[in-house]
Amino acid sequence: MKTIKVAMLGFGNVGQSFANLLLEKEQEMKEKFDTEVRVVAITTKTRGIMVDAWGIDLEYALNLIEGKKTFPASSQPRIQKTALDVAESMEYDVLIEMTPLEYASGRVATDHVKAALKRGKDVICSNKGPLAWHFKELTQLAEENGCKFMYETTVLDGTPLFSIVRENLKLCNVIEIKGILSRTLNYMLSGMERGLSQEEILEEGKNRGFIEANPQTDLTGQESLIKMIALANAFMDADMTPMDVEQLDVECSQGITLEDIKAAADDNEVIKYICRAYRKNGKMQISVKPERISRFDSYAAVSGTSLAVSITTDLMGTMTIIEESADVEQTGYGVFADLLTIIEERA
Ligand SMILES: NC(=O)c1ccc[n+]([C@@H]2O[C@H](COP(=O)([O-])OP(=O)(O)OC[C@H]3O[C@@H](n4cnc5c(N)ncnc54)[C@H](OP(=O)(O)O)[C@@H]3O)[C@@H](O)[C@H]2O)c1
Repeated sequence: MKTIKVAMLGFGNVGQSFANLLLEKEQEMKEKFDTEVRVVAITTKTRGIMVDAWGIDLEYALNLIEGKKTFPASSQPRIQKTALDVAESMEYDVLIEMTPLEYASGRVATDHVKAALKRGKDVICSNKGPLAWHFKELTQLAEENGCKFMYETTVLDGTPLFSIVRENLKLCNVIEIKGILSRTLNYMLSGMERGLSQEEILEEGKNRGFIEANPQTDLTGQESLIKMIALANAFMDADMTPMDVEQLDVECSQGITLEDIKAAADDNEVIKYICRAYRKNGKMQISVKPERISRFDSYAAVSGTSLAVSITTDLMGTMTIIEESADVEQTGYGVFADLLTIIEERA
């Protein structure tokens, strides 16, 4: 039986969901892949760091977090004080980066990823920051060091997107990417079609638990922009960052009124917050803004908490993937699927 040692940086929604999947599928992984996954480190910001070269008891770690407790101090060796220490110095095979997104730089997560890739370790990243800010550098580093840099869950959670393009659209050139990438914005626009105000819908979404207490980054289009740059970097070799402002056209959602929604409906149209990436005169362009589209357009049916991405290629036309209302288990599955790919390729 092979053993694969995993270091998990971040143990929030995604990390806990992934840990639950490891527990649930432990036996099947042994049977199907002849592999035992051993989590040797879990880091958090405020609950401490747990390390155990023989494998952390995940049920115990999950119970501590659920009970709002911190990890026991005895499990934190002096040299491993931070997530970066773990990435730089611990013995592991795969690093999983699941810390919160830093919109302004993607920095801390990028440092974690770089530290692992420089050591020739495979990396799975659920954080979009490194893809939006440092994609080229990180993919080059992975190539130079003969290791993998994977990121399925960054866009559309666990719904296969990056893996479909990688595995099933070989030698296709991606010409355009289009998408509805913000659950908050899509839910808000669908709610306005029901005649509710933006404030009422945001409150409703917060009560249902999928809109953050402070949804500003969604409402300004920033969250969608980061995802779109990540997609353009991965699929179109865009080599862009959020600093390339002259190529970015981002509009905030706050100007949209119930009258705008009604005027669109009177013309058999709906307003959707649509993201696009394409080349104009050879130069990459990204737009993230509300558009009026026909109510018969397939994107008009992507409503509420659903998301969509369409990829147009030279050889295969346009393919659209719709994620119908994900819950947190699906975000963990994206990480889990990347890990299974790594395990299969090591076999
Ligand atoms: N949730 C989703 O639906 C989803 C979907 C796709 C991708 N993602 C991305 O996946 C990442 C994780 O999301 P999440 O929802 O799991 O976030 P979360 O619930 O906020 O959890 C973040 C985890 O990272 C830890 N952390 C914070 N700063 C850290 C630092 N500097 N060093 C080490 N650990 C640190 C936190 O510790 P404390 O608890 O002590 O603060 C927590 O354990 C984010 O980048 C997010 O954008 C999330």
